[in-house]
Amino acid sequence: MSLTEQSASARVSAERSRYVARGVSTPKLVVESAGGARVKDVDGNTFLDFAGGIACQNTGHGFGPVVAAVHEQADRYLHQCFMVGTYEPYVEVCRRLAELSPCGTGEQRSILVKSGAEAIENALKIARVATGRPAVIVFDNAFHGRTLLTMTMTSKVKPYKAGFGPFAPEVYRTPAPYPYRGITSDDAIAALEHLFKGDVDPETVACVVLEPVQGEGGFIPMPPDFPARLHEICRTHGILYVDDEVQSGVGRTGTMWAIEHYAGVEPDLLVSGKSLGGGLPLAGVTGRQEIVDAVPPGGLGGTFGGNPLSCAAAVAVLDAVSQPAFLAAATRLGATMRERLDGLASRHAAIGEVRGLGSMLAFELAEQTPDRAQAVVAAAFDRSLLLLACGLYGNVIRLLPPLTIADDELDEGMTILEEALTEG
Ligand SMILES: Cc1ncc(COP(=O)(O)O)c(C=O)c1O
Repeated sequence: MSLTEQSASARVSAERSRYVARGVSTPKLVVESAGGARVKDVDGNTFLDFAGGIACQNTGHGFGPVVAAVHEQADRYLHQCFMVGTYEPYVEVCRRLAELSPCGTGEQRSILVKSGAEAIENALKIARVATGRPAVIVFDNAFHGRTLLTMTMTSKVKPYKAGFGPFAPEVYRTPAPYPYRGITSDDAIAALEHLFKGDVDPETVACVVLEPVQGEGGFIPMPPDFPARLHEICRTHGILYVDDEVQSGVGRTGTMWAIEHYAGVEPDLLVSGKSLGGGLPLAGVTGRQEIVDAVPPGGLGGTFGGNPLSCAAAVAVLDAVSQPAFLAAATRLGATMRERLDGLASRHAAIGEVRGLGSMLAFELAEQTPDRAQAVVAAAFDRSLLLLACGLYGNVIRLLPPLTIADDELDEGMTILEEALTEG
């Protein structure tokens, strides 16, 4: 290419800078196509994808059953608005969510929306009406979205909150367990009791919202005892337990929902999203009938919520992921990834901890600055591996390959990761 010739990526990036709000952060990658665990850019370079559009590709790019279901649905109708015309794909997703729900036995109902944040907002609406209470308790290192309420609930100032206040009222924060940084389940329980003494009357709390494995906050799995202990406290005070599985759900941890790894807890509301739609926008709130139906007709909804194409995709996703063989493969993948990461940690002193659940794995760099993690992500990109950092300090590298990735592709990615860590 001559010096005056621009690559296709450079041309699109320049147009992007010219026309797209800079508040939407700008990656280097300009995509042409994607399939399985690979993404091809507009200049013909191929990348191995350990990012999955931020945890949205558990079934891989262009998963056959999803693409077929979307094509078929596209030929029938694209939109109805579920509040104007009932359509079967929406009902079918809700049926599957009911059958797969971790929220106990008995009839389950769901509402479908367009994003994780919108689903969290709806979970809050439902919890408030069901309990008649206003407050919500959230945790350190939480990420629940970018709308006013969910941004308030999110636990990272820059870039998610800085300058965007005033924030929503009646949101209270308390420490979550983070054993690597010295916060145990006992500490977190004590802090919650302290919150009830000092800041908020538990009798005014509608719900707690917790990710079983905190995602953006650094892939921090809750210790085995914590969800059940929190649940018990919720029971005592009539508080609902909302399980945010937007990132940890849909097979990522080797079970349909990460909360299934925890004994003694039955959430009141499940929030799902991301990989649920197989790449199309879909999220949901699921719970027992008496809780979800506390909201009268018309109180929940939205023009595009549960779009038919997204629902057709989700039916295919849920049918595939709920197969025992699919989940067993996800568990095996997680074991292989962890072994590789443990090996990496034994050779690289910068790694402070390898952690996660199933195939939702990450390593935290001991130093609490983003620089090294950013360098590793950049070095991986230069070697054609897409990676994401996370964590309050941006010092965690998370791995989100498709659960369908081939052994040799995983091996290739892990080898590049080590090279990137050595160089970065
Ligand atoms: C746990 C969790 N909850 C909620 C959200 C918000 O989802 P969305 O970006 O679809 O609004 C995210 C997004 O990363 C998430 O990880």
